[in-house]
Amino acid sequence: MVAGGVGVAPVFPIARDMKAAGNHVVGIMGARNKELIFWEERMKDACHELLVTTDDGSYVRKGFVTDVLREYIESAGKPDLVMAIGPLPMMRAVANLTKEYEIKTMVSLNSIMVDGTGMCGACRVTVGGETRFVCVDGPEFDGHLVDFEEQLMRSRKYKSEEQHALNRGGCGCGGGGKCHG
Ligand code: FES
Repeated sequence: MVAGGVGVAPVFPIARDMKAAGNHVVGIMGARNKELIFWEERMKDACHELLVTTDDGSYVRKGFVTDVLREYIESAGKPDLVMAIGPLPMMRAVANLTKEYEIKTMVSLNSIMVDGTGMCGACRVTVGGETRFVCVDGPEFDGHLVDFEEQLMRSRKYKSEEQHALNRGGCGCGGGGKCHG
């Protein structure tokens, strides 16, 4: 179970249930720095082994989750399945690595969504050359079949609007104290 940044949140219940189902679960969690590491204790409980890393080396060790994963595979052997959740570049890097070792890999995509019913097309993704919708067909997909380049390009589509909303301190919907956008 490979978790990057806030990917720890969706990885945790999957790891916990994988363990409860009788699997040997190895967790790898990484973040940019020590301040961004969270739920380490929960992940320790959810996994048989937990390996932690930080990009800047401010906690446990220095390196990306892919460094830890490669070392693990080289020393302990190939797992039956790798599940990776985190930023798109991290999931792409994990998928590229596991492709080398021919390890089945699932990723969970977090596309921009509008209607969440498969009709608007906002969350469109190409998987194995075919169009899929993250909201109804996913969010988990075979990481070796996802067109990550297209996903990265699509994820940057509203960057200037997102920055604009961030700069003015909210989305501007006036959500009566309920909206955190
Ligand atoms: S969010 Fe509209 S099709 Fe998925």
